[in-house]
Amino acid sequence: MDICGIGKEVLAYIMSMSRNDLCWCGSGKKYKKCHKDYDERIGEMKFDVFKGQVRPPHKIINNAKDIEAVRKSGVVNDGTLDLMEELVRPGVSTAFLDDAARDYIESHGGIPACLDYEGFPKSTCISINEVVCHGIPSKKTILKEGDIVNIDITTNLDGYFADASRMFIVGGKTTPEAQRLVEVARECMELGIQAIKPWGWLGDIGDACGRHAHENGCSVVTDLGGHGVGKEFHLEPFVPHVGKKGTGMLLVPGMILTVEPMINQGTYQVDVDKGDNWTVRTKDRKLSAQWEKTVLVTETGTEILSS
Ligand code: MF3
Ligand code: CO
Ligand code: CO
Repeated sequence: MDICGIGKEVLAYIMSMSRNDLCWCGSGKKYKKCHKDYDERIGEMKFDVFKGQVRPPHKIINNAKDIEAVRKSGVVNDGTLDLMEELVRPGVSTAFLDDAARDYIESHGGIPACLDYEGFPKSTCISINEVVCHGIPSKKTILKEGDIVNIDITTNLDGYFADASRMFIVGGKTTPEAQRLVEVARECMELGIQAIKPWGWLGDIGDACGRHAHENGCSVVTDLGGHGVGKEFHLEPFVPHVGKKGTGMLLVPGMILTVEPMINQGTYQVDVDKGDNWTVRTKDRKLSAQWEKTVLVTETGTEILSS
């Protein structure tokens, strides 16, 4: 039942908050001066369960202080990726790159978030050619000319996480097919980000990413996706890179998401290495490429917090 168009559950919530209470977002401001209008706007909206439309939980809405902290974490994260750009060349081991990334993050006051994350043994993920993601850096893995490599870095600075990855073409030259895949993957990420609008829908991202991949004869990995990020490494929602416009979670100002499409030459299917339980590869062992940015939803559009 709706009362004055406001869903019962949300109405009860709004009424349980006093106008002069401190806002749930932790801003320190009074509720009436902060997220009261926001809660009412969401309360008045109709959510179509058949489209999977859902309200974002308060837990994933960041206040100005949280956002500034993720921004700072993003500066360190981006600096680490810039350093990787200088160091990637034929003959270097992925363990060497991992050590350099760890040193950079730690010397800037951060913690590499991947290290010990659910048992992951290294500070970065380095994924070469048919490796889709979660490649474990190793002294034995040596970059060679023409490899396409994803380096994925997540920094935890003062408890706030920024997560981004870039592709590198080792030695600067590869096959035209591999180069095209790297470009298409980047375009998928950019189009996905451009599809993010405050008061839009999560499915708008996957619609844009997936459409572009498929139009270019590529496939999109569906077993893994982007995620909310901020006060934790992985938060709600799961961000699919294929989808339908107008479906999924409502996107609202203060949400921070990653867009990180994994784009394959052949099948979208993947498998996980039986030995290390981490390395994700394409099932057909054809190439895969990925780019990732951390994106804030603002009142007017988006702000990139790490790339
Ligand atoms: N950085 C990856 C992501 O984009 C997650 C890596 S988890 C790890 O979400 F344990 F493999 F490091
Ligand atoms: Co990442
Ligand atoms: Co991520």
